[in-house]
Amino acid sequence: MLTGTQHTDQHRSLQLIFPTVVERYALSEAETVNRDLEQSIKALSDRTPNGRLDGYSCDIYTTYGVEERLYDYPEFMRITDWMVSCFAAYAHRMSYATSPQGIRLTQCWVNIYQRGFAHEIHTHPNNILSGVYYVKAPPGCSEIIFHAPQAFSSMRADCRNDSGLNQLSHAIQPQEGEMIIFNSAIKHNVPPSEIDDERIIISANALL
Ligand SMILES: [Fe+2]
Repeated sequence: MLTGTQHTDQHRSLQLIFPTVVERYALSEAETVNRDLEQSIKALSDRTPNGRLDGYSCDIYTTYGVEERLYDYPEFMRITDWMVSCFAAYAHRMSYATSPQGIRLTQCWVNIYQRGFAHEIHTHPNNILSGVYYVKAPPGCSEIIFHAPQAFSSMRADCRNDSGLNQLSHAIQPQEGEMIIFNSAIKHNVPPSEIDDERIIISANALL
């Protein structure tokens, strides 16, 4: 057995690999845009039944599976065009190659969270990038929580304290008028809402 080995930073090197890249984009004229969007979303939700699947363990209002082509409606084209530009910026930052026709939204829908409503852990399969635009994110609204792949391993170490090296999840408190973009395969969830105000989002999936 070797003795006298000092595991100091002088004798070891740390490499952090496989980053999880989440980027936030702020819309400059968000206040006006969101006011109009909220009206359009109310009208949409009045005429659209809840698409929540029976298998969901939590309450949520969603147009997913019922109305997920918001980019076809004039009242949503301004925001969906901006969302596409955010996806393009993310793809450029990541040095992703894009097809000649550019970024394509495959789905774009609305979720509304009322008190107690949540979204269980999920991914957005069959897509490359996903993003969420926050039309309403009142003070105290639920965070979006991202989970590391190893968080779901059958065995893992107990940690004596939290650090950036052993972190298995990361919560982001959303801001109104911002879009958060992430790889579609990253697991994420939204905990139950503890406020009376609604949290309203427009979600989108994209292929490159
Ligand atoms: Fe999601």
